[in-house]
Amino acid sequence: MPIRLSRTFVLRKLHQLSGIVPLGLFLLEHFYTNSKALDATHGQANFNAAVHDLQSIPYILFVEIGGIFIPLIYHAVYGLVITFEARPNNLAYPYPRNWFYLIQRITGIILFFFITFHVLNFRFGMIPGLNSVSVAQHPDQAFGIVSGEFSMIPIFLIYMIGITATVWHFANGIWLFMVDWGITIGEKAQRLTGYACIAFGVVLLMVGINAAVAFIRPGGLLGGIL
Ligand code: HEM
Repeated sequence: MPIRLSRTFVLRKLHQLSGIVPLGLFLLEHFYTNSKALDATHGQANFNAAVHDLQSIPYILFVEIGGIFIPLIYHAVYGLVITFEARPNNLAYPYPRNWFYLIQRITGIILFFFITFHVLNFRFGMIPGLNSVSVAQHPDQAFGIVSGEFSMIPIFLIYMIGITATVWHFANGIWLFMVDWGITIGEKAQRLTGYACIAFGVVLLMVGINAAVAFIRPGGLLGGIL
């Protein structure tokens, strides 16, 4: 007898998968590119060259639309639908996993606003009163545009909150994915995978923040020691 998959099941699986591939992979690539700014002497040139290299990928517009924008819009919009269907019961059942369930939804809402702001601010230069130049179209000015924005304390704080929310959402999302897709089975394996995801999240958070700091302090948090 053929197996019939419900529409919700397929939409839900696609939502989970899109969080890992391509969005999670893109996040790792993004932090890697940003980390090019870390070199205390050549950070500016290295970062601008990295932006230039990305923009010279053949068919980059289609890669961006198909590989980032469409999956992102799908994951974000369906994620908001899932969020508004949720009925949190954390006060009655205050278990860690129940709090993680709620924080996954809160960080999703933060991400929705943060990513909209971030894309309009840097990719398109369209936030009134802030940067008006598209970084992608002016790789030679990329470092200068980002450091100009990050020199404003409120903007830098927005990025710190956005980076933290993104890393939390992704690290907890990997755990959810591994359990939901039957990769991590059994209580002990799920607990150990939880610790691994926390460790991964802490390292990724340091990498993300260090790269952001490099735009306002040569060499990043450690001033170029590493
Ligand atoms: C833009 C706004 C976003 C919203 C509103 C959102 C919302 C959500 C929600 C509500 C869930 C939980 C789904 C569930 O429990 O079934 C989720 C899961 C997830 N999200 Fe997002 N998300 C957003 C952006 C992102 C981004 C940028 C990434 C990648 C870095 C990402 C990666 C993940 C992963 C890996 C999962 C776990 C999938 C699973 O449940 O198996 N999300 N998202």
